[in-house]
Amino acid sequence: MSKYLLQVGDKGFDRLKFINDIFGEHSRNFLSRSGLREGMRVLELGCGTGSMTTWIANVVGKNGRVIALDASEKQIKIARNAIEESGVANVEFICSIVEALELPRDSIDLVYSRLLLMHLKNPELVLKSIKKHLKVGGIICCEEPHASSLLTTPPNERIESLNAIFIKLGKLQGFDFNIGDKLLPMLNAAGYSILHACFVQPVISMADATEFVLMGAKEMAPFAVQCGMLSEAETQDMLHEMATKIDADSYYTFPRQAQVSGYR
Ligand SMILES: C[S@@+](CC[C@H](N)C(=O)[O-])C[C@H]1O[C@@H](n2cnc3c(N)ncnc32)[C@H](O)[C@@H]1O
Repeated sequence: MSKYLLQVGDKGFDRLKFINDIFGEHSRNFLSRSGLREGMRVLELGCGTGSMTTWIANVVGKNGRVIALDASEKQIKIARNAIEESGVANVEFICSIVEALELPRDSIDLVYSRLLLMHLKNPELVLKSIKKHLKVGGIICCEEPHASSLLTTPPNERIESLNAIFIKLGKLQGFDFNIGDKLLPMLNAAGYSILHACFVQPVISMADATEFVLMGAKEMAPFAVQCGMLSEAETQDMLHEMATKIDADSYYTFPRQAQVSGYR
């Protein structure tokens, strides 16, 4: 089984919320453009803390349904609470790894995943095996980053080298954090006909990005130490430097995120 490198539950919630604050609008436009509409049965893979789940459930409405899957009970607990608070009643959760998903064939109108395939050892296989759950003509929408395209302006060595460590840690686990650039050929190879493909790459001020960068650094640091890429002392230095020495007038460009949709 894949080892997820980031924190789940309350410890990872703020980072995913931040990502959704930045990318959510782009994700919603992407899903609408790709054909998400009222009455659909949607399968959301790797729903996390449910950043997109409530919105999708509201779009499909009471005649539609969302099946939201995640490997982590802690993530699902937060997502379920958010759904209950919003009063939406058309979502069911499945706690399972996507590789073990069992659903009826030809039963889903749209499959959605964001930032999941990058955490899988064999995303190609998952894309192929998910296809049988889609109705003929059913749609798949995936969003994944090309992590190496992160940019800091002017260059901030600390942040860029931390990003390189993150990519290396992924590789050690058998993950490809640069999967975004390969998403279109991957969907093609899995036998989907392509509907839409584009990249989004937001830029924000470093003042706004610092907290996000620190959250990610704190989450991945224990793994970097375990794998011998950073010592405890280097980790503490790095976190201190990030918290105190970042130039608030500089810019942070997120890794470009591929948005690719296709149909069966
Ligand atoms: C980066 S988060 C993205 C969450 C959500 N899609 C979003 O955009 O906010 C990745 C999620 O995938 C889940 N995950 C990782 N490996 C998984 C697997 N093999 N099967 C199902 N979920 C998995 C993690 O628990 C985590 O919640």
